[in-house]
Amino acid sequence: MNSKITIAIDGPAASGKSTVGEQVANRLGFLFFDTGIMYRAVTLAVLQRGIDPKLEDAVSQLAQTVQIDILPPRIFDGRKADVLLDGKDVTWDVRSREVEANVSVVSSYKGVRDAMTEQQRRIGMRGNVVMVGRDIGTVVFPNADLKIYLEASAEERARRRYQELLHRGVSAEYEQILASTRQRDEIDKNRTIAPLRPADDATILMTDDVPVEEVVETIMTLIRENGLVKNRG
Ligand code: CDP
Ligand code: CDP
Repeated sequence: MNSKITIAIDGPAASGKSTVGEQVANRLGFLFFDTGIMYRAVTLAVLQRGIDPKLEDAVSQLAQTVQIDILPPRIFDGRKADVLLDGKDVTWDVRSREVEANVSVVSSYKGVRDAMTEQQRRIGMRGNVVMVGRDIGTVVFPNADLKIYLEASAEERARRRYQELLHRGVSAEYEQILASTRQRDEIDKNRTIAPLRPADDATILMTDDVPVEEVVETIMTLIRENGLVKNRG
């Protein structure tokens, strides 16, 4: 058995990467790391400083200096937090509509990706990890022990996001979510550097109408079949 195991989960927005990835990591006792939050945090920093997201050089420079801390969810200043930007809790701000509208453009820049990829590789070196994002199996860890690509139709993914917002008591419009999901897919799949696509050796799981627990079980089976963990999970 390898001394350090890396499981890469990629896929488009609301394909289930964080929900499924976190459960798999918990079952295995592995670190869970969501790289999307890093790109969201850089985007928030850009917006907070009044930088035009279209200015590649200025955005890339900021990405190299900004301090992002991703925590295992914990209480920070009396609230549940999982991301700090320059020491401040921005857990909800990184999930705002404004960040969502700009994150794919910011994430398309080489300077931004180089800075984030380097940090992600360092985090991945710490121990067994389930890392989720868009390019984990293709770029960040091309030698990952297991690569999963989660997929679902844009309509199903927009429905999931819509339900989430309703549960949080946030007013939302399905058509607007669908349009923004499609727009983000389009930019993420067509960018020059690290586009969203399944690695050649990834297992693709279609998850329309498949409950989270079933997706988790399928991945756990693949993990066992690949001899990555024994008698666990
Ligand atoms: O949760 P959701 O799938 O909606 O988004 P996310 O994983 O938080 O990622 C937000 C955005 O960050 C994506 O739309 C990508 O533009 C970018 N991203 C990326 O380029 N590479 C990654 N490894 C992760 C996210
Ligand atoms: O991280 P990503 O953006 O890929 O998706 P997520 O935030 O993990 O999942 C978005 C929503 O879809 C969550 O509320 C999940 O519970 C839900 N989901 C689902 O209903 N069925 C699945 N097979 C996967 C996720």
